[in-house]
Amino acid sequence: MKIFIDTADVELIREHAEIGIIDGVTTNPSLIAKTGRKFEEVVREICDIVDGPISAEAVSPNAPEMIVEARELAKIHPNVVVKIPMTAQGLKTVKVVSAEGIKTNVTLCFSSPQALLAAKAGATYISPFVGRLDDISAQGMGLIEEMMEIYDNYDFETQVLVASIRNPLHFIEAAQMGAHVATVPPNVLSQLLKHPLTDIGIEKFMADWEKVPS
Ligand code: E4P
Repeated sequence: MKIFIDTADVELIREHAEIGIIDGVTTNPSLIAKTGRKFEEVVREICDIVDGPISAEAVSPNAPEMIVEARELAKIHPNVVVKIPMTAQGLKTVKVVSAEGIKTNVTLCFSSPQALLAAKAGATYISPFVGRLDDISAQGMGLIEEMMEIYDNYDFETQVLVASIRNPLHFIEAAQMGAHVATVPPNVLSQLLKHPLTDIGIEKFMADWEKVPS
């Protein structure tokens, strides 16, 4: 399973990229707004840090404008993946721009029929938002299970990118289900890395090392 980091904070991206665990980055308008910086400037900087797919979201409401916007975003850097909302206008856009070789990430997916339609339109990635489903007492990870089964039945090339991950269990279950990608916020990445027994083990080894005669 590929690991993307779900943030537009370049310092956090740099920090995790240096560890060597980041295959790509996802952003959205809310994450960009949090930085207080200009959109294109942030996307360019992220592309300089991580050599992998970088999702940048289109915000036009209708397909004709969204198609123009997608082409502009794709020009920023060859690694840019255009994030497109799961709407009829979005799917029209995906159909047109994917035929031109532009990579797309269909976002805000909350059901398996939506996932099937996005794959048929030619999306490179589909982003089901598991945390937001859990928030309304639906089974976020149940959606991933359904989607994986449907995609396997038809051999779609679209990759399932599990998004809106809120905790390590989402991540583990995504891997157990064979999801292609998980996009993980920095706080959850830190939770994935750490284990109290690792810290206790290091402390004990270091204390014992002091007793070894030099
Ligand atoms: C995915 O690409 C989105 O940026 C993100 O995962 C949304 O997560 P949230 O529901 O925690 O805002």
